[in-house]
Amino acid sequence: MTIDGQVVLQCQALSKSYEQGTDTISVLSNISLDVCSGEKIAIIGASGSGKTTLLNLLGGLDDPTSGSVAVMDADMSPMGESSRARWRNQHLGFVYQFHHLLGEFTALENVAMPLLIGKVAVAEAKARAQAILSQVGLEHRCHHKPSELSGGERQRVAIARALVAKPACVLMDEPTGNLDPETAKTILDLLLQLNTDLGISFVVVTHEHHVAVQMDKVLSLEQETLIDVTEDLVARSSVNSQSETTAVPVQGS
Ligand SMILES: Nc1ncnc2c1ncn2[C@@H]1O[C@H](COP(=O)(O)OP(=O)(O)OP(=O)(O)O)[C@@H](O)[C@H]1O
Ligand SMILES: [Mg+2]
Repeated sequence: MTIDGQVVLQCQALSKSYEQGTDTISVLSNISLDVCSGEKIAIIGASGSGKTTLLNLLGGLDDPTSGSVAVMDADMSPMGESSRARWRNQHLGFVYQFHHLLGEFTALENVAMPLLIGKVAVAEAKARAQAILSQVGLEHRCHHKPSELSGGERQRVAIARALVAKPACVLMDEPTGNLDPETAKTILDLLLQLNTDLGISFVVVTHEHHVAVQMDKVLSLEQETLIDVTEDLVARSSVNSQSETTAVPVQGS
């Protein structure tokens, strides 16, 4: 996918700390990041380093202690809850580690949900949901509820739901973390294909080396800040492939 210079998601001097009794726990400090249109970014880092916290801030699901987040040039901080939800619904998609599908709705209804919330007419929402479910290979499972789907199928429904409104950027928290290697590979290939076809940017939290190296940029969350480790990881990959060893885990995981 060609990355053009348009910045779809940007954070500036983002910091987050939690108050715990008399203690202040600082998790993120002074983080700035631009995500360009079509760009794929991996975020790696040890458990507890703040990856989910960062994704939640980037998605406007949580408020920073200081700093700002802008999606499609609009600053999320001053927005009220409902306009922020509307803006998020229009421009961002989310894939959580544990799919978060609504159990009482079918795959088709789950995928159509962001469009219905965005006030798209029911018939059109269902047609678009059906089309994207076909793209993720689930046209034959549209009327199944999440409990009637396999883990990989549920994750594909979650990906379809994140992509259906053709957002500018999708934020993913270990999208393949709970899947067997073969299903994980199918899903990763699918995401890369969708990035090429639709030009959607990705920010992907992952513990998996083979996922991280497929992204344009790899950022490691260490000591509350992001460090660009793309070149290190690519160099390690090429050493590994030359010596034909199996993939090593990413730094910090
Ligand atoms: N609501 C909260 N109150 C206090 N501390 C919190 C809160 N939420 C998260 N933390 C702390 O912030 C740190 C970062 O948590 P976060 O969930 O972002 O880590 P992570 O990098 O996603 O870890 P993992 O790889 O295990 O998912 C952790 O030390 C956690 O205990
Ligand atoms: Mg996490």
